[in-house]
Order: sequence, then C-alpha cells, then structure tokens
Amino acid sequence: MKVLITGASSGIGAALARHYARRGDHVWLAARRADRLADEVASIRSADGTAHAVPLDIEDAEALEPALLELDTKVGGFDAVIANAGVGGKGTTASRMRYHDVKKVLAINFTGAIATLLAAQQPMLARGRGHLVAVSSLAAELALPIALDYGAAKAGLSYFTEAMRLDLAPRGVQVTLVHPGFVKSEMTAKNRFPMPFILDTDEAAALIVRGVDRGAARVRFPLAYVAAFALAKRLPLSLVAKVAQAQAKPASRGAPRLE
Ligand SMILES: NC(=O)c1ccc[n+]([C@@H]2O[C@H](COP(=O)([O-])OP(=O)(O)OC[C@H]3O[C@@H](n4cnc5c(N)ncnc54)[C@H](OP(=O)(O)O)[C@@H]3O)[C@@H](O)[C@H]2O)c1
Repeated sequence: MKVLITGASSGIGAALARHYARRGDHVWLAARRADRLADEVASIRSADGTAHAVPLDIEDAEALEPALLELDTKVGGFDAVIANAGVGGKGTTASRMRYHDVKKVLAINFTGAIATLLAAQQPMLARGRGHLVAVSSLAAELALPIALDYGAAKAGLSYFTEAMRLDLAPRGVQVTLVHPGFVKSEMTAKNRFPMPFILDTDEAAALIVRGVDRGAARVRFPLAYVAAFALAKRLPLSLVAKVAQAQAKPASRGAPRLE
C-alpha cells in the first residue's frame, strides 16, 4: 500500500509512518521541516522500510493541489492519504482574541487540511478506490472557552470530513475521521496543565491504523476520555467550562487548552 501522511516530521504523523513502514507499506512523509523529515525517512530506511520525504506547507492551500496531483501521478497513485498536519491553538479566551491570533490555526488545521483532502480525492475518484483520513480532535466535540480557535478549526474539519464521506463512500473512496484525545507530542509537550488519559504517539498511531484498516467511519480514543466527553455533553456547557478551567489552573503556567 502507498500512504501519504501530512504532518509526519514529528508526533502522531511520524509514528503513523513508522507503523505503516514496519508492515511493508510504502510511506511518503510530508511537512515543512525538511531536516526532520530526512531524519524520519532515514530511520525508517535503516529498519528496511520504504519511505520518502515530501517537504511542503499545507498553509499554501492553492499550491497544494497541483503539488499533490503531480506527486500522486509520479508514485502511481496513493492508496491512502492521511491529513494529519496541524498546530496547537493560541490558548486565549474570546475576549482577548484577535483575528490575527486565529488566522494561522484556521489556515492550517481547517483550510490546509481540507485542501489536502480535496486534492487527494481527485485521483482516487478517477480510480474508484482509495482511503482518505482526517486527523481532527475530540476538541471538535465540545465548545470550551479556552480552545475556541483550535476547537472551531477541528469542528469544521470534522464536519467537512463526515460530509465528504456521504458523497465519496458510494463511489469507492473510504473516509475515516479521527478524534484523538491527548497524545504525547511536540504539540502537547508545552502544555502545563493536566492531560487526562494521555497516550504515547505509538499507541495513538496503532489505534488509528487499526481503525483505518477496518474501514471505520470514525476513530475516537482513548475510550475513557470519549466517555468523559459523552457525559460532559449532557451537562450545561457553562458548568463544563468552569470545571475544565478549575482543573487546568493548579498546574498551569500559560493559558490551558485542549489539543
Ligand atoms: N497531541 C494531541 O494531544 C492531539 C490530540 C488531538 C488531535 N491532535 C492532532 O494530531 C495531529 C498531529 O499532531 P501531533 O500531536 O503529532 O503534534 P506535532 O508533533 O506538533 O505534529 C504536527 C505535525 O504537523 C506538521 N505541520 C504543522 N503545520 C504544517 C504546515 N503548515 N504544513 C505541513 N505540515 C505542518 C508539523 O511539521 P512541520 O512543523 O515540520 O511542518 C508536524 O509534523 C494534529 O492535527 C493535531 O491537531 C493531536
């Protein structure tokens, strides 16, 4: 299988690339930091895997389509494309937020991710097969005052992905939406607040690969956090926000947020 993974220079994306390569799939790792991509590719090749670096910036959404279409032709068609690249939010409440603060989060986590999916779907539709995967977040499921830029971008991505599936599934293209809870990565390393049920990147990657393999429409984990979210959604939002903020305070040096 040929798999393209965006955001593969670190964290969940790099772990996904290692997982697929270990079982013999050919992986293309995309991100901005060419040096980190080269390190990840070298590490996979040293373990006899097949990996290629694809330096790109998904924030340049206009350039993404021709670049991905050209790459797809060059490699002979991707079987799966995982839109995983993303950045953390500003961690600022609405009253302190300016558009300038949220612009980048929206441009990468929403616009860049959907530009990836839209470009990738074209050759898949032409072939009548393929698998699109969007790595969104559990943050998309619950509005919190401390995660409004990140959560809104992810909620938009989740909506878009779910709607895409309705159209693409009957045409042979599978679509999987991933909602992780907290995962250890560069993104969460800077957080100074409690991150309940946090998973290692390898554990998260294994859960994603398993879900993609079985053609799941949604992959949500860890179960304990998914259950906590389900409960929280039944409570008044104002109460949930207070609890989240109170829980975040003792260990927090910066503004807390949910990735
Ligand atoms: N960690 C969590 O707790 C958690 C929870 C839920 C969802 N997620 C989601 O999981 C995904 C992976 O995050 P992570 O936790 O693994 O964090 P990470 O280690 O910071 O990885 C983020 C990846 O995205 C890439 N990226 C960022 N902006 C990009 C751009 N403009 N163009 C191309 N690549 C870009 C980064 O590489 P470069 O900087 O080299 O470009 C990096 O490879 C993200 O979408 C994140 O929102 C994470």
